Amino acid sequence: MNESQTCSPLLPKAGVSSLLKPDLSADYATIISGEGPYLFDSNGRRYLDGSSGAMVANLGHGRRDVAAVMADQAATIAFTFRNQFSNEPAERLANKLCGLAPDGITRAFFVNSGSEASEYAIRLALHYWKERKQPGKTKVLGRSTSYHGMTMGALSISGHAGRRPDYGPLLHRFANVPPAYCYRCPFDLQPERCALECAEAWESEIIAQDPGTVAAVIAEPIVGAAGGVLPAPPGYFRKLREICDRHDILLIADEVITGAGRTGAWFASEQEGIVPDLILLAKGLSAGYTPMAAILLRDRVVDAFIQGSGVVPFGHTFSANPLSAAVCLFVLDYIERNDLLRNARERGAELQQGLQALSQRHRSMVDVRGRGLLWGFELVADRASRKPFDAKFNAAARLVAICRQRGLVIYPAGIAPYNNSFIVSPPLTVSSDHVEELLQILADSLDEFDATIPTEPSTISH
Ligand SMILES: Cc1ncc(COP(=O)(O)O)c(C=O)c1O
Repeated sequence: MNESQTCSPLLPKAGVSSLLKPDLSADYATIISGEGPYLFDSNGRRYLDGSSGAMVANLGHGRRDVAAVMADQAATIAFTFRNQFSNEPAERLANKLCGLAPDGITRAFFVNSGSEASEYAIRLALHYWKERKQPGKTKVLGRSTSYHGMTMGALSISGHAGRRPDYGPLLHRFANVPPAYCYRCPFDLQPERCALECAEAWESEIIAQDPGTVAAVIAEPIVGAAGGVLPAPPGYFRKLREICDRHDILLIADEVITGAGRTGAWFASEQEGIVPDLILLAKGLSAGYTPMAAILLRDRVVDAFIQGSGVVPFGHTFSANPLSAAVCLFVLDYIERNDLLRNARERGAELQQGLQALSQRHRSMVDVRGRGLLWGFELVADRASRKPFDAKFNAAARLVAICRQRGLVIYPAGIAPYNNSFIVSPPLTVSSDHVEELLQILADSLDEFDATIPTEPSTISH
């Protein structure tokens, strides 16, 4: 190094951050520790994590037991490469997940994020049809209100108008069908007149596309970030399963949010009474203690590979790494040993009741919806017409900021103009007292939010 070259400092200058953040003009609080459902920032402020981050931290924060498992596994063997060796934690995790999954799911593969799981599912679907000597089946159909990840393939199958622009020619233009969004039914139906037109829309689209060109369809059992918790009406997924079978198309269930116990069952697919051909897991699978995602495969998909080329020649460097697998095994065992699925259902019922009571009291808060410990609601400017707030009013950011100021984290969701939805999804370990605390802070925040709504109708979107 010559005299004029200087080493970059280990730490940025005071007040200057080298970390690229989503909003370059915003000042983000720095979290320095966590304990249970609470996060603590560098100014000593405490936050109740009412959304488990991004629906991830299912066991809460700061767990020494998980840290011990990590230290132990890291000291034993932290990395093996999938093309050279297998490893015990990944083998055990695959067995465990196949045992918990709906009947007929017989293999698991591991990647590092939900987006990679979506990418991998696209690849598996195309590989399946190639093995079955139908290489023309290459389209993957999704829904217009959905999110399956940020990478180009995953975004191509996502119906997220807010996250797709700017990538134009890099994204595939796969067709989307309307969502199952009962509060804003795309078919303008009331629940009592619903004949699952939203499910039938899949069949019309598949026929329009030519089933001989469609490899798979993908859907979240409960739409997360794109809608703010949108469960489908009863029977929707059974109908979709029938449609896929009728036209010989794979069904991919994106359970990145709903899987691993979030909805009060191991899999939301199980609650819907279906066996998908591929199931995607991420987020809560590791409870946030390590990046990890999984793709679960149904026997018929695996059989086609076995009877075909006998190989599945794709993966990533860190696929099925033993360190992450050991963490996930601990997470699943912990959920089982402590009956957290029951806790999710019971605390979830308390949360639902409390949110519904708030919705009675606050005129802008509508459509409390969800299952287990995955709940959502919407803010509207006008309850009768269901019109959203004008974008300039920034309703979602406003409520999130008020909650944060009062020590509660909730997750903003939805796609413009209906992007005033929120996800409330605390860790599966919460107690009734935590739920009560969450509801109290939310109630106070909604009072403060209501007081900021101008009385003139300019806040209504036209
Ligand atoms: C349903 C769903 N699928 C896929 C993804 C992408 O996961 P990741 O952000 O881990 O890539 C997300 C992320 O929010 C998601 O909610």
